[in-house]
Amino acid sequence: MAMSLHRLFSYVLGALVVSAAAHASAPSATSTAATSTLTGIAATAPTVGPSHQVGRLPALGWNSWNGHACNINETIFLDAANQFIFLGLADAGYEYINIDDCWQSETRDASTGRIVPEPSKFPSGINGIADQVHALGLKLGIYSDAGAKTCDGFPASLGNETLDAETFIEWGVDYLKYDNCNIPSNWTDAATPPDDDWYNSNSAIRYRQMTAALNQTGKPIHFSLCIWGTANVWEWGARVGHSWRMTNDISASWSSISSILAANAQHLDSVDFFSHNDMDMMEIGNGDLTLQEQRTHFAAWAFMKSPILLGTDLNNLNSTQLDIIKNAELLAFHQDPIVGTPATPFNATASAPSTSPPEFYAGRSSKGMHVFIINTNTTATKTFDFANVPGLGFGRFRVQDMWTGKDLGTFANEFSITVDTHDTAALLIHRA
Ligand code: GAL
Repeated sequence: MAMSLHRLFSYVLGALVVSAAAHASAPSATSTAATSTLTGIAATAPTVGPSHQVGRLPALGWNSWNGHACNINETIFLDAANQFIFLGLADAGYEYINIDDCWQSETRDASTGRIVPEPSKFPSGINGIADQVHALGLKLGIYSDAGAKTCDGFPASLGNETLDAETFIEWGVDYLKYDNCNIPSNWTDAATPPDDDWYNSNSAIRYRQMTAALNQTGKPIHFSLCIWGTANVWEWGARVGHSWRMTNDISASWSSISSILAANAQHLDSVDFFSHNDMDMMEIGNGDLTLQEQRTHFAAWAFMKSPILLGTDLNNLNSTQLDIIKNAELLAFHQDPIVGTPATPFNATASAPSTSPPEFYAGRSSKGMHVFIINTNTTATKTFDFANVPGLGFGRFRVQDMWTGKDLGTFANEFSITVDTHDTAALLIHRA
């Protein structure tokens, strides 16, 4: 993102352009409680929630940013869509093909005020891509920003929510990623939000205005808040969208992955149906992550029930990487239709050291109980007591490896397994 001057300019310009329009946003039919002490924008901001016809389970798909940044054109999206079919990713459950920043022309259409897809990159228009993506049985996502300009300086949606929501829906878009760059100064947050509730913060209201605009179109759309873990979003995200980014941008390194794990592990009680912490897009296939790190990246995003949006050129994935991202047991846990909650940290044994991120996680699926063990250090044997797994108790248990489907045998009291450096063991456990 080589545009700091551009961003600064956008910021100042945006502050002038959008403030009046944004503050004029009409309140929705459902208004805040009569006992509220809210004033100003917090008192009148829309309170309508996201559609529950979509977004029950964490999204599975592909996004252009990590692999292509601003070097995008319609061919790469159609190629990703075709690869979804060809590589069996669509059969495995992947459905969204998402366009990130830089799809727009520099300026809105002078007469209609609409954002215009850059014709040199998107000669068929966004509706043209949507038609082709839909014809393959897949869904299309697009990107905008709750500020004056997008992060790369293109037209954004603060103050234009209604027109932009209508435009995206008219084009056939099924998913909106909504970013957080170039916020005008009158929209910054107070240190303490009104009524001490971050749902009433200016940040939340910038997103709430788009929720209301999307709702008004009458078409259900998946709404992804790209708010980088600010404004305590995990407390109110589910009242506004279906998923919300928990951190700054990921990079293809173990330090980035482990810091995202550490941050997200503290907020797993926010995750359930229609309510997903977004740990950012996948880096499998990018940079020099080891095979074990790529396995942990996928397994942890799956057991924490983050959206999983692949972020690389799918043509370059090798068969081992494809096996990771198509692992049926991990995807079944992630997409479980009956259990919406993720696996959460537990104390493996009475003497287990505490690490950041935590190494041991347990959670239920419709198939049974699961334990996931992330090795945050070098190759070692990891042990947990069955009685320490919440809901399991004492006795004998049959343990199955979710990576291979292999039965590992029947064990009493405790279970030990060797886990490689930065790898993750994924286990399904049944009472024997
Ligand atoms: C960042 C966002 C990234 C990507 C980028 C585009 O703010 O976190 O995921 O969308 O902007 O400029």
